[in-house]
Amino acid sequence: MYLTKEEERILDGEEGEGPAKAMKLLVALGEINGADELIPIKSSQIAGVSYKTMGDAGLDFIEDFSTKAAVTVKSMLNPAGMDLDSPGEEGNEFREKQLRMVKAYANMGIETTCTCTPYLAGNRPRKGDHLAWSESSAVSFANAVLGARTNREGGPSALMAAVIGKTPNYGLHIKEDRSPDTVYRVAEDIPPALLGYHVGGDVGGGIPYFRGISYNEDEMKSLGAAMAATGAVAMYHIDGITPEADDFTTDELEVIEVTDDDIEDIKAKLMSDNKPEAIVIGCPHLSKQELEWIAEHLDDKKPKAGPELRVYTSRSVKDHSKEAVKIIEKYGKVIADTCMVVSPLEDIYDVVATDSGKAAEYLPKLAQQKVVYADLNSLLEMVA
Ligand code: F3S
Repeated sequence: MYLTKEEERILDGEEGEGPAKAMKLLVALGEINGADELIPIKSSQIAGVSYKTMGDAGLDFIEDFSTKAAVTVKSMLNPAGMDLDSPGEEGNEFREKQLRMVKAYANMGIETTCTCTPYLAGNRPRKGDHLAWSESSAVSFANAVLGARTNREGGPSALMAAVIGKTPNYGLHIKEDRSPDTVYRVAEDIPPALLGYHVGGDVGGGIPYFRGISYNEDEMKSLGAAMAATGAVAMYHIDGITPEADDFTTDELEVIEVTDDDIEDIKAKLMSDNKPEAIVIGCPHLSKQELEWIAEHLDDKKPKAGPELRVYTSRSVKDHSKEAVKIIEKYGKVIADTCMVVSPLEDIYDVVATDSGKAAEYLPKLAQQKVVYADLNSLLEMVA
């Protein structure tokens, strides 16, 4: 991989140990993937923030690295293990270590906005921008919906790219590698979480091209998150909607019909008659419009003595949705900075209900929780 003189200097340690380490990782990553050079990025989004997933080894690494390097581009964090403003049930040791982790990132100049929807929290990339983002649903949204370009980075590679301000030029940074490989023809009324759950499992790491759906941004957020969870989808196209859908021909591609039976199979797999102790909504983090819709739906209804409602969003959206938050908090909690997967929710509940395809996939695997899938209307009916 070609390096400029300046990049060679950094690699040789002339800017210090931290930048040299960052450059070394980016060069290794580029060489493994056949990149020709490093390209400048507009922003970085860094996973590996929750103390639940990072543990003591991760905390030690970040605290040490934070004394040796600083970021050079706009950088934000993925959700942490708790609401940073109003910690709840996590316990003192967890709380103290989580705050240390976020402080170490802040010491490197990283914004402590902890969300998987940075594009709803002050960092909305433009078409053609190169990024180094690591949260899989955010990667999918940036590529497919916004037309920005990012590979699905790991937490460390996103952090190192943030330090250098560049990323290796391969994969989804290159136009030809963004072309679809399978067409999915879909009946329009399929819920995005279920469609994403089904297609992700089918297409794996491919790039699906959808015909027959007309989702809005919130629905595409849900679709992409589910496909990134059951598969490794980092890019997709929707005919007539996403910005690069017309840039590629699909004439030669295999066409797969998504039938009602496919979706019924997914429903049967995800739905169960387990009794949820909590309802968890907001994977990915809810938008302002989604919070307002929930508030409007619940307003003036009588709260039921059922499962506890927990709604997850970014700090930024929560702060900009005060009226909606006030209403929802009559029925449950509105939690920022964290989510149902990266917080230690399994210490409190054995069974939760969600409308998220991604949470339905991850909670049993990562947190050994039983999950009941239901659509948003049905979930809210359990609350009021
Ligand atoms: Fe976001 Fe957590 Fe879901 S990071 S996409 S809310 S698993």
